[in-house]
Amino acid sequence: MGSKKLFINTMGCQMNVYDSGQIQRLLAPLGFSVTDRLEEADLIIVNTCAIRAKAEQKAFSFLGRLAPLKERKPELIIGIGGCVAQQEGRQILSRMPYVDLVFGTQAIRRLPQTIQRITAKRCRVVDVEMETTVSPDDFSTDIPHMSEICEYVTIMRGCDNYCTYCVVPYVRGRESSRPPEEILTEIRGLVANGVREVTLLGQNVNSYGQKEGLCRFDQLLAMVNGIDGLGRIRFTTSHPKDLSQELMAAFNSLDKLCPHIHLPVQSGSDAVLKRMNRRYTRDQYLEKVERLRRLLPSIAITSDIIVGFPGETESDFQLTLDLIRQVQYDGLFAFIYSDRPNVPAAHFDHKIAEAEKKERLQAVLALQDGFTAQKNQALVGTVQKVLVDGLGKTGPHHPEEGMPDDRGAVDHWAGRTGTNKIVHFASAGSTGGLNERLTGHTLAIMIEKAMSHSLWGHIISSPAESVAKGE
Ligand code: 5AD
Ligand code: SF4
Repeated sequence: MGSKKLFINTMGCQMNVYDSGQIQRLLAPLGFSVTDRLEEADLIIVNTCAIRAKAEQKAFSFLGRLAPLKERKPELIIGIGGCVAQQEGRQILSRMPYVDLVFGTQAIRRLPQTIQRITAKRCRVVDVEMETTVSPDDFSTDIPHMSEICEYVTIMRGCDNYCTYCVVPYVRGRESSRPPEEILTEIRGLVANGVREVTLLGQNVNSYGQKEGLCRFDQLLAMVNGIDGLGRIRFTTSHPKDLSQELMAAFNSLDKLCPHIHLPVQSGSDAVLKRMNRRYTRDQYLEKVERLRRLLPSIAITSDIIVGFPGETESDFQLTLDLIRQVQYDGLFAFIYSDRPNVPAAHFDHKIAEAEKKERLQAVLALQDGFTAQKNQALVGTVQKVLVDGLGKTGPHHPEEGMPDDRGAVDHWAGRTGTNKIVHFASAGSTGGLNERLTGHTLAIMIEKAMSHSLWGHIISSPAESVAKGE
């Protein structure tokens, strides 16, 4: 077995984060342990993202930096996985002679054998085969995850929606759902390892199980809700066209389901939505938002927006701004449209100039900043239940300027509200022991101050009074 070092660079979405976890777990039996130091790695894996041109450039620029490493250490194995690998396949080998392995999004379970083959034969391998359904071997539920407090669980893969700008159906394949029993087994295993919150992942969770006749997504949620010891459930992503009454009702009936939904709208213009093949209208979207808020007024709603889609006129864009004003999202991810290989929109006429796209992006971000600030400000003076996921990344001091740092020896903690807002708070005393006592607990925190993308507060409940449930 020996002890070998694995360096993984994970780019892109949560699906890749989950996949990288799988890779780590699958390679552990081969003697690989993870390192964060490139120089000491025996195997480097780059898990890439192809959603926008920028993401792809980032992957190639990182890979470019690996050439000198390989020169110094010829036995080093360099593998490129994820969506760019799936998209480019064999071409990567000719473009980058120092890459040993290109593996696609559905080749992860074969990695241990592939790595063994490369080690033994010093050959180069391309494995980008795709299947139409998930096989139980695609997910290693039996190998325990590391004990994080919040974990992702992939419940389905691929996408059948073919939005005209999107590369996902081509690089992740057809939509295919995992059976509920498998998902429940995986989550029970996670909970046994200390996980308190799971985020169920899929490109369109709302259509979970439909093709296979498994069960509806809201029914799966109800089953997950029944798992003892689990505190919170989240899910992402929901396609607005498939957001059902039953799923909306689940926000009220399931106590562990967090009051947050990510509901990407992409555009506020019907003409653009049609050309994007989103299959809902602005009014249908707004109606669903209204219904969600009627059912659960405290629900947080976030969204994705694409600016500068081919043919997006100034008035189309104004409709998007107007929709953002109407919905007042809790948070927004805005992207500049970028052509992707082989997707229909790449061939659409009336491409928008880069400068114009950038201006539109700035306008969206500036508008949203105001709403984010207002929403955060509205929480000042309220008590929020925060699931603590550990010490704050920025160390023992206040995460953003503007807070008086006069509390003496403090530890700075971080966690999230049910509505997915990041909360920092301090606790007096040293880290030892307290870490274990606070991490994984849901604490009542009085919010004192709103910052641009997070909140700052102080504990008003002790860990012993920790609240077990979702919100
Ligand atoms: N250009 C820009 N943004 C894109 N997205 C997907 N494809 C593209 C593209 N070609 C955005 C969408 C999606 C998010 C994950 O990425 O907003 O919801
Ligand atoms: Fe891409 Fe549309 Fe599928 Fe989302 S629903 S992954 S945007 S094709």
